Amino acid sequence: MLHSSRTMVGARMYGWLYTLVPILILLTPVGLAVDITHFKTVALTLIPSAVKNGAVCLDGSPPAYHIDRGVGDGANNWLVFLEGGGWCDTTEDCLKRTTDKEGLGSSKIMQAKNFTGILGSTQQLNPDFYNWNRVFVRYCDGASFTGNSFDRVNNLSYKGGKVFSAVVKDLLRKGMRHATNALFMGCSAGGLAAILNCDRFRSFLTEHTNVKCASDAGYFLHTKDVLGEYTYANYYKRIVKLHGSNKNLPKACTSTVRPRGLCLFPQNIVPHIETPLFLINAAYDGNQIGRIWAPSVDHLPESWVRCKFDITKCTPDQIDILKGFRLKFLNALPKSSNASFRGMFISSCLNHCQTQDQRNWDTDPGFKVDDKTMAQALGNWFYGRRSVQIIDDDSVPKVCATKLL
Ligand SMILES: *[C@@H]1O[C@H](CO)[C@@H](O)[C@H](O)[C@H]1NC(C)=O
Ligand SMILES: *[C@@H]1O[C@H](CO)[C@@H](O)[C@H](O)[C@H]1NC(C)=O
Ligand SMILES: *[C@@H]1O[C@H](CO)[C@@H](O)[C@H](O)[C@H]1NC(C)=O
Repeated sequence: MLHSSRTMVGARMYGWLYTLVPILILLTPVGLAVDITHFKTVALTLIPSAVKNGAVCLDGSPPAYHIDRGVGDGANNWLVFLEGGGWCDTTEDCLKRTTDKEGLGSSKIMQAKNFTGILGSTQQLNPDFYNWNRVFVRYCDGASFTGNSFDRVNNLSYKGGKVFSAVVKDLLRKGMRHATNALFMGCSAGGLAAILNCDRFRSFLTEHTNVKCASDAGYFLHTKDVLGEYTYANYYKRIVKLHGSNKNLPKACTSTVRPRGLCLFPQNIVPHIETPLFLINAAYDGNQIGRIWAPSVDHLPESWVRCKFDITKCTPDQIDILKGFRLKFLNALPKSSNASFRGMFISSCLNHCQTQDQRNWDTDPGFKVDDKTMAQALGNWFYGRRSVQIIDDDSVPKVCATKLL
């Protein structure tokens, strides 16, 4: 900015400018100088005492989370954020997770976590949540914290439901039982888990705590794929069967919807949730486009393989079909016009899991819908500062940051 204005002024002005420059630097809002790559490395906390209650990762190791304690006026507020990482629907797939280097099936492999985005610890980068107790719960069960089964032959534990309870109880002991505010959320498979377990999470707290839930990229759409098949519904059916998830899925759904695998789809769950819920999702979520809409099956036409991995390679017809996906997605969103009860921030991006990425979360100048960053939208909604049901009405699919799948 300075540079371009300088090219517009004449040489006579230079002396004047040289005295102005240091003043301008002093007056520059700190926000512009913020280092958006800032993060804080937070150690892993294990819950060994949970093992005797059967709350374990796929390989039998204890559940785990990372916690950065709240300070100042955030000391009594709690953000509980569930990690994502897909699902496993076969024994082989779940066995593979036990040695996965991200630790998606074993706390023996998990590393420290870099907190940024909504987990960030500076006011400039995360204005409403930076000084809360911020907890990142590790995902090591492979079924969005719903499993309730055991495979003796392979010594594999499907105990996601117990892992969830063990983590929450441990946090209650660490002070969450006295929380003033609690925001329960997650991203992707963790965003789905936050929807599935939202009312259950609230049931652990008293009426003295203001509890709300949010889901980032967890609103997976129940629809046919481009080949006219229910690839994802069949996948979800296998997950629920393998993990024995029935008991831990919301009863309002499992008592009426068949097959029960469909109770992993938020559109069948959200109408029954009694707690305020906020949905952050890209209408063209890259993960959904790549796995639900154009899944990696042998007979997927090459043109869709190209298009799903790179939007610039889509034909105009394919873009129209993608826009159809967006409309189906919007139609499946909660119908409540009460924005305090059902808030939302739906972009036309191709992103997946946006709140953990500082560039999407709150960067100025940066990514906004309706002139709001995601951080402003979620903060405004949580604190009831204004009603938030934001949907980008520009239907052109855009790449807003690099994280797609
Ligand atoms: C099964 O896994 C548990 C937990 O890692 C371990 O303690 C036990 O020895 C294993 N059992 C067998 C038969 O491998
Ligand atoms: C955290 O960030 C540092 C610096 O970029 C990097 O070396 C380290 O691997 C990161 N840790 C994790 C767990 O991602
Ligand atoms: C809207 O939702 C909030 C939060 O659940 C609730 O307190 C309020 O009563 C609702 N308002 C209306 C008009 O239903």
